[in-house]
Amino acid sequence: MFKLIELPYEIRALEPAISAETLSFHHGKHLQAYVDNLNKLLPDSEYENMALEEIVQKAPAGAVFNNAGQILNHELYFMQFKPASERAQGPEGALAAQIEKQWGSVEAFKAEFEAKGVGLFGSGWVWLSADADGNLVITQEANAANPVQRGLKPLLTFDVWEHAYYLDYQNRRAAHLSVLWQIIDWKVIDARYSG
Ligand SMILES: [Fe+2]
Repeated sequence: MFKLIELPYEIRALEPAISAETLSFHHGKHLQAYVDNLNKLLPDSEYENMALEEIVQKAPAGAVFNNAGQILNHELYFMQFKPASERAQGPEGALAAQIEKQWGSVEAFKAEFEAKGVGLFGSGWVWLSADADGNLVITQEANAANPVQRGLKPLLTFDVWEHAYYLDYQNRRAAHLSVLWQIIDWKVIDARYSG
């Protein structure tokens, strides 16, 4: 059985980038529903004793995949943030060097990442991932998909489902995505890249 992850920050900690109201619905209602749904589907299935990532890699399109994918996506999403009151950070070490090698600058990387989030049609996620050689790639994933299905290691993500921003930004997806950098905990992203 899977459990709802606990947020490593207070419910108001991400304001004004993400309001307490949005965070409360997103974590307490949307993610909770995915957890409850998956837990109802698992008993007596072939997925009962699998780790979450393995379910996402093995389950065919359908309810098990959709709920497992959304749990994995949201866990990686919520755990990558830090309180807005803390100083904004940037990538460091090997990750910073690789971003500069591939994009020329962190700002150029951010611009492409945001544009791919804005340009994703419908619901989904934009991801920064690493391949087995440490090369970085930005992918757009529809609905519940995750880069682990492509054999990539997911590092950083923006949720572009409307439930992630509609209460605060309505249809202004670009405005929402542009402020998320203020709350990214790059120590978490660096650790995922190096781990
Ligand atoms: Fe979401």
